[in-house]
Amino acid sequence: MVKYNEYNPSEIDRREVYRILTGSVVPRPIGWASTIDGNGKTNLAPFSFFTVVCVVPPMISLTIARNPDGSEKHTLKNIKSTKDFCFNVVTEPVWQEMVDTGNAIPEGESEFELTGLSSLPSVKIKSPRVLESPIHFECRLQEVIELGPHKHPLVIGEVVYFHINPECMSGGYINMEKLLPIGRLNGHYYSKLGQILQREFEDGQPR
Ligand SMILES: Cc1cc2nc3c(=O)[nH]c(=O)nc-3n(C[C@H](O)[C@H](O)[C@H](O)COP(=O)(O)O)c2cc1C
Repeated sequence: MVKYNEYNPSEIDRREVYRILTGSVVPRPIGWASTIDGNGKTNLAPFSFFTVVCVVPPMISLTIARNPDGSEKHTLKNIKSTKDFCFNVVTEPVWQEMVDTGNAIPEGESEFELTGLSSLPSVKIKSPRVLESPIHFECRLQEVIELGPHKHPLVIGEVVYFHINPECMSGGYINMEKLLPIGRLNGHYYSKLGQILQREFEDGQPR
């Protein structure tokens, strides 16, 4: 019988809680959010506390923590101001640029200029898209839910337009071997796709 290590989150340091959560919920997809401020300055930042929320209508979520001084991150400020954001899929060719966009830079400077990435206009929203990413979801802000005593902002966006590079698709599906998505692990580690598995049944039908 394994003697599991046991932890009560209310009795351990928050850094230890973070280590357990980010080492257990793995690999996490990365919501690479592009936004724009009221002066037309673009912004780009990665969020791995990110997932799909529902399908009809399509919605996704980002958890955007406050900065250590309690201020709001630029992404959240921009989303609250324009009421929209774009989610861009992070792939192998741009994963290092994605990491660089996670560094805090002064308001009024753009991660696009810092990394040399190019912005593309969107169809339905003010926020730009990332040219170097093969999939973009144009999202309108549905709601910012403030969770718990520290009011952690959970941003829910409704996807109002999809853009997919056809080179990532085969037979109507997004093909993982062509997409080459990147996942976030714990610490400063990331992952590529490993071997892709499919359970084999006697009747030969996958399910
Ligand atoms: C891979 C990766 C994932 C991240 N995930 C999150 C996250 O889920 N929530 C969050 O608040 N910050 C996250 N960060 C940190 C933000 O990207 C970082 O604070 C960034 O500077 C915010 O930029 P902004 O102020 O332009 O919005 C992540 C950073 C990296 C590199």
